[in-house]
Amino acid sequence: MERILEVNDLHVTFTTYGGTVQAVRGVNFHLDRGETLAIVGESGCGKSVTSNAIMRLIPDPPGKITKGSIIFKGQDLAAYSEKKMRNIRGVDISMIFQDPMTALNPTLTIGTQLMEGLKEHKKITGSQAKQKAIEMMDLVGIPNPEERLKQYPHQFSGGMRQRIVIAIALICDPDLLIADEPTTALDVTIQAQILELFSTIQERTGVSIILITHDLGVVAKIADRIIVMYAGKIIESGSKRDIFYRPEHPYTKGLLNSVPRLDAKEELKPIAGTPPDLFSPPKGCPFTARCPFAMEVCDKVYPVSEKISDSHQVDCWLQDERAKQLMAAKSLQT
Ligand SMILES: Nc1ncnc2c1ncn2[C@@H]1O[C@H](COP(=O)(O)OP(=O)(O)O)[C@@H](O)[C@H]1O
Ligand SMILES: [Mg+2]
Repeated sequence: MERILEVNDLHVTFTTYGGTVQAVRGVNFHLDRGETLAIVGESGCGKSVTSNAIMRLIPDPPGKITKGSIIFKGQDLAAYSEKKMRNIRGVDISMIFQDPMTALNPTLTIGTQLMEGLKEHKKITGSQAKQKAIEMMDLVGIPNPEERLKQYPHQFSGGMRQRIVIAIALICDPDLLIADEPTTALDVTIQAQILELFSTIQERTGVSIILITHDLGVVAKIADRIIVMYAGKIIESGSKRDIFYRPEHPYTKGLLNSVPRLDAKEELKPIAGTPPDLFSPPKGCPFTARCPFAMEVCDKVYPVSEKISDSHQVDCWLQDERAKQLMAAKSLQT
């Protein structure tokens, strides 16, 4: 397995009038070639900031990567100059966002927009570029590619526009595709089709994918591994099976209970309360105030990461032997 990406101890802050926002607070994860990694968590937990940091798209000021490394194919992107990053973006690493309309230029044909990156970054002739554009339209499932290359974004439906955005992202054969809430703006049927498309593309091209979403339901089908973020930290990570069948963190369990399921007999239970303010995040576990199992220690000291298996890791005091004994004693009493 080739390790495409390794993010180590990443910290990102934003300096504002109100103080310093600690948006990402020591994030560690990796991604192998051909893998799909999902980053999930409620809005504001640091998913976009993490992925923007990989692309070095954190506006500085007010933002700053204050610590950590982003090793992409053996090179630390955190130390790259803007000039060097320009050769990475859209070529080795591509990113797609929630809203396909803002990603496309309404005044240019789809064909022009598809071929733009190719012409800029690869030494190829006009007819080769056109051939590649047609191939990409085909790959993302757009019929009559040759004709449709001449059309403008408004002549496509929302789902088709997102397919075009994906085609543009993939046209230079990147090693890594980062998709930040790529289906959030689409209706449920189209959402399923786009997720299906990610799987097809991965099978055909071997691209590694980071899929960001606030909705655990979205990742159930296509993720290999899942990272759960809360208040700028990864509180649990594991294979898809670990997270869906053996979740350990009370926050992960809460997220799972708030996912709509077809076979659900029980009502959906959103997690009560809100995440802490990131100007002065708590010293201990940031979920303490919302956690039904919180103990004295939780809010004072951040838990040590507990390795449950080779694939599964969780930051929670409930994993501590002493806590387990305490819980067992409590359940005997009641
Ligand atoms: N440009 C910015 N200035 C100040 N704070 C920011 C900025 N961008 C993001 N943040 C803060 O960083 C935190 C993480 O945001 P983000 O990564 O966008 O969350 P999400 O998980 O919803 O993608 C939030 O508290 C957000 O308010
Ligand atoms: Mg976001």
